[in-house]
Amino acid sequence: MRTERQAAARQRQLERYAADLREVFKQERNRALELSNSYRATVQALSNAVEARDAYTGKHAERVTAYGIALAQATGLDTNLAPDIEFGFLLHDVGKVAVPDAILFKPAKLDESEFALIAQHPIIGSDILRDVDFLGEGKLVVRHHHERWDGNGYPDRLAGDAIPLAARVFAVADALDALTSDRPYRRGTRFSRARDEIRACSGSQFDPAVVEALNTIPDARFAALRDGVA
Ligand SMILES: [Fe+2]
Repeated sequence: MRTERQAAARQRQLERYAADLREVFKQERNRALELSNSYRATVQALSNAVEARDAYTGKHAERVTAYGIALAQATGLDTNLAPDIEFGFLLHDVGKVAVPDAILFKPAKLDESEFALIAQHPIIGSDILRDVDFLGEGKLVVRHHHERWDGNGYPDRLAGDAIPLAARVFAVADALDALTSDRPYRRGTRFSRARDEIRACSGSQFDPAVVEALNTIPDARFAALRDGVA
């Protein structure tokens, strides 16, 4: 009889422990969620600050991020496990804060020294973000988003697999948005046409594997992502 009572008491105690543990887990999960929401909001605010300067490309960072995530998933990058990649997409041009308006928005062709200044923005961007640990791999996107597969990009002239995969994915997403967005001097092209142009640069400007992944995503998906941001 006594043994039974003891066993029942032990059982109740174990159930209390389990309930306490569940509560602790729940609180931890909520705290982690709160923290990750704060990270996201901070990154978004910084990205909006960069975008606010350029009336023509409005929402470019959000669109390119939406395209980039779809493309990263099609390429095999797990963006759920690495939100820092998404942060890198959003912040890719943060270094442009250091480029004067007269150069950034110059309607004519840039001369050599002006281009040299613009070409500094990935370096300036990665310097600005250097100590922000939670951006992780995202900082590599900021640094290398203008590298080319053939090694003729900037700032480090990396080539092929030496370019971080997330940056290679970003380069294609960036081109897709640039080609399909209206500019003051031209209308954006259709996705199908942009695809052709990107395919023509596969193996020179872009990683062929990423271009292949691009072709697995239908136009309608990109259109839905674009409309979701607008
Ligand atoms: Fe850039």
